[in-house]
Amino acid sequence: MSHDLHTAARLSVAPMMDWTDRHCRYLHRLLSRRTLLYTEMVTAPALVRGDARHLLRFDAAEHPVAVQLGGSDPAELAQAARMAADEGYDEVNLNVGCPSDRVQSGCFGAVLMERPALVADCVAEMIAAQPLEVTVKCRIGVDDQVPEDVLPDFLERMRDAGVRRVTIHARKAWLQGLSPKENRDIPPLDYDLVKAMKRAFPELHVSINGGIATLDHAADLLNDGLDGVMIGRAAYHQPADILLDADRVIWGETPPLETAEQAVELMKPYIEAHLGEGGKLAQVTRHMLGLFAGRPGARGWRRVLSENAHRSGAGLEVLDAALAQVTGAGADAAERLAS
Ligand SMILES: Cc1cc2nc3c(=O)[nH]c(=O)nc-3n(C[C@H](O)[C@H](O)[C@H](O)COP(=O)(O)O)c2cc1C
Repeated sequence: MSHDLHTAARLSVAPMMDWTDRHCRYLHRLLSRRTLLYTEMVTAPALVRGDARHLLRFDAAEHPVAVQLGGSDPAELAQAARMAADEGYDEVNLNVGCPSDRVQSGCFGAVLMERPALVADCVAEMIAAQPLEVTVKCRIGVDDQVPEDVLPDFLERMRDAGVRRVTIHARKAWLQGLSPKENRDIPPLDYDLVKAMKRAFPELHVSINGGIATLDHAADLLNDGLDGVMIGRAAYHQPADILLDADRVIWGETPPLETAEQAVELMKPYIEAHLGEGGKLAQVTRHMLGLFAGRPGARGWRRVLSENAHRSGAGLEVLDAALAQVTGAGADAAERLAS
């Protein structure tokens, strides 16, 4: 299947380790046909040296879907990108933004903002090795770097190495002294710098990321001249709020579903298949906890799922009982579950 990725990338759900796994992405795809979805970061050493091809597994329904790779060895990244192309992904993204300790010690992620020539070598080899588009997700800088100086240089090198699309998390990462979580909140956001980069590099497709929590905000940023908006935490915690109206707001198309309840119904066959393979209910439903965020019954929905989905043998009856909390038939269904 071919996709117009530059159009799809007008809105994307960010790569998030432990969160945007294949079950999460399946749910997100039910809510929006168009939004570009990213995998969790998969490291090139795990794929190439660890034979962890299973980490690349995804469902055909997920397209358009991009795999995010972590690494800093050009040959290894090229081989990992080839593996991703063989698996049928639509795009390969290189992580130059994630500051976790694990990532730093392996020389992956944000620390690479300090080594732009190496990143350029990496993406050039990834591009040469396989047919998929190679994109980069970066920060505006790290530690005491001056973003106004390093970011244009970094983007120029990416462009010259053949990259056509980047996502910029609009804050620095502090490699020492902040936890990965703090690094997503404490360094201040600088949207103006990202907008200035779009003006300086009109030939690049530039997506902005960081702190965007509504579709209206996303639409405003697109109106300001940016080519794409990537949303992370808000899309995960309130998937229906962000994704259910995305096809209409961002692409002017009729959304695939009208309600989060419909998404729950459509998850059932997927969950049944997962259970049939020996999977656990909670592995899927943990990504559904925020589906009714802000609606009456949302707390009951979360509670019934959190308390019951991890139990051995838990099946679709748990989902029905949780849904009844939202639709008003809560007490009866909870009783049935208890009996
Ligand atoms: C739980 C979690 C895991 C993350 N894992 C990754 C990752 O694997 N790769 C990456 O580039 N960024 C990762 N990020 C950062 C997000 O992609 C995104 O840049 C960040 O959350 C800011 O966007 P937001 O404010 O919309 O959430 C992660 C974020 C969270 C919350």
